[in-house]
Amino acid sequence: MLKNKGQYRIGVFDSGLGGLTVLKHLLKKLPQYDYLYLGDTARVPYGGHSQELIYRYTKEAMDFLFSQGCRLIILACNTASSQALRRLQQEYLPKEYPDRRILGVIIPLAEYAATSHNIGVIGTRATIASKAYEHEIKKLNAQAIVNSNSAPLLVPLIEEGLAGSDIANKLLKKYLRPLKAKNIRTLILGCTHYPFLLKDTRRIMGKNCRVPDPGEIVADSLKIYLAKHSNLLSAHKTTGSRHFYLSDKPENFIKLGEKFLGQKIDNWQIISL
Ligand code: DGL
Repeated sequence: MLKNKGQYRIGVFDSGLGGLTVLKHLLKKLPQYDYLYLGDTARVPYGGHSQELIYRYTKEAMDFLFSQGCRLIILACNTASSQALRRLQQEYLPKEYPDRRILGVIIPLAEYAATSHNIGVIGTRATIASKAYEHEIKKLNAQAIVNSNSAPLLVPLIEEGLAGSDIANKLLKKYLRPLKAKNIRTLILGCTHYPFLLKDTRRIMGKNCRVPDPGEIVADSLKIYLAKHSNLLSAHKTTGSRHFYLSDKPENFIKLGEKFLGQKIDNWQIISL
């Protein structure tokens, strides 16, 4: 465990590898901060579970990251954001950690999408069933049409290192077909694992549909948030450290993560949640 729990760290949480697609942009745009990444590799995927179970798993992850001195946690997981964020913000934080913050990924992406009229969203079963995107987008643009489709098999394929394979591309095409048929102009990748398939998704959707990289949007929005809440994290007390915590065997995570981030992951540890 970390010796100096300085409380100036940013926690980044996902069920597995997916949050790395957010972390990559955070490291680019906000490199001065200390980051603690937690991937619940023992229990990934979350997307087919009940709301109660996803809440319990996510709360355990928050307990761990706060115990390691995180002052702010990014739920870099749409499934956790759609199933657990509100309850964590309304019940858990005020009681347990009133001076700390948890931010999700859905609102920044909904803000981006809402500038469009005909929008598509793909995500896990839990995220799509929650209608969280539809709800947030329509708050900002009541005229928007939001077409959604769940893509439950993509996360296990990505965790297996099969992004870019024939089978992943076939499935991706199948999941995107109904959205393509609706002539959507913006596609939101409503699962942080899916940017592992960003190039293929853009190719399949074609030139007339914008497919933003969600991590980039989340990082831009965090930058604005931190500028407005400058007392939350003082960058001058940080050292630019990166730590990775996993709840089960690390081999796949490290191999795929290093390839995706383009840098070594040597500061990792197995923990139990
Ligand atoms: N990366 C996740 C998300 O954004 C989690 C997927 C899963 O565990 O099913 O939804």
